[in-house]
Amino acid sequence: SEKTLVEIRDLLVDVARKAGQMMLVADPSVCTSDTKKNTSDRVTETDKAIEKMVHSTLQSAYPNIDFLGEETFKVGQKLCNNPTFVCDPIDGTLNFIHGFPNTAVSLALTVAKKPVVGVVYNPFRGDLYTAIKNKGAHLTSASGRTLQLPLRPTPAPLTSLNGCLVALEWGSERHGPNWNLRSSISQTLLSSRASGGAMVHSIRSSGSAALDFCYVAAGQIDLFWEGGCWIWDVCAGWCILEEAGGVVASANPRDWQPELEGRCYLAVRGARREEQEKVVQEIWALMGDR
Ligand code: IPD
Repeated sequence: SEKTLVEIRDLLVDVARKAGQMMLVADPSVCTSDTKKNTSDRVTETDKAIEKMVHSTLQSAYPNIDFLGEETFKVGQKLCNNPTFVCDPIDGTLNFIHGFPNTAVSLALTVAKKPVVGVVYNPFRGDLYTAIKNKGAHLTSASGRTLQLPLRPTPAPLTSLNGCLVALEWGSERHGPNWNLRSSISQTLLSSRASGGAMVHSIRSSGSAALDFCYVAAGQIDLFWEGGCWIWDVCAGWCILEEAGGVVASANPRDWQPELEGRCYLAVRGARREEQEKVVQEIWALMGDR
């Protein structure tokens, strides 16, 4: 019910603030021995400690709600229709390790595989993004001031890719077809129209897909493109973005109904529906038929 969703949002906010406090006092250089696949796929003791705290707090408050978390994920584990908490204890782990202050905890609730509550908190800036399905999205800043998202109530027109500020992340896999696509799409997005590109204003890669979704929700970034991140990176941000009038399509051409677990995301800020569709079609065309 609506009351329960508000209670869950409030609990996720409390848990996110506690997680944030853990990040602020942690020594991020304490990496676990199991760096995941390669040197840019890292996990710290803090990632694990936060997930443990989040899991046990949520489980004791809502024992019937399932839990899916980045650090306890088992290959093959799937989101199911049951209500499920989805947790990324630290999104932007590399930023955390380097002390680059664009790092967040990302917590969501899904029902029937759709995000219905989203909370993303960056403790280094004190920015808290929240949303409940059909109740709008908000940003509470360090000063305690709460603003509705998008930040500009009447977003500027989104007429074409040309002129957009785009977020695109690099992930940790640095070879193979996905890598080739990431590098070629960024070149195509940036390059001039005369050389067949889209001449976007620029590309930002700030290292947290969860925060990228929030910046798109706020209207500070026009669109976000990534193939390769995971449900826990995007689940909370997805709810926040949709509540702010944005849409999520797939980074795979012609898929307007991407799954949460599809790992290919194209998030577009609030604008007229025709405009959102046009920029998505433009990116799909640039990617060619794959
Ligand atoms: C990563 C970040 C990064 C994205 C990766 C994600 P993590 O999440 O969101 O921006 O490029 O694909 O896995 O590992 O820091 O939680």
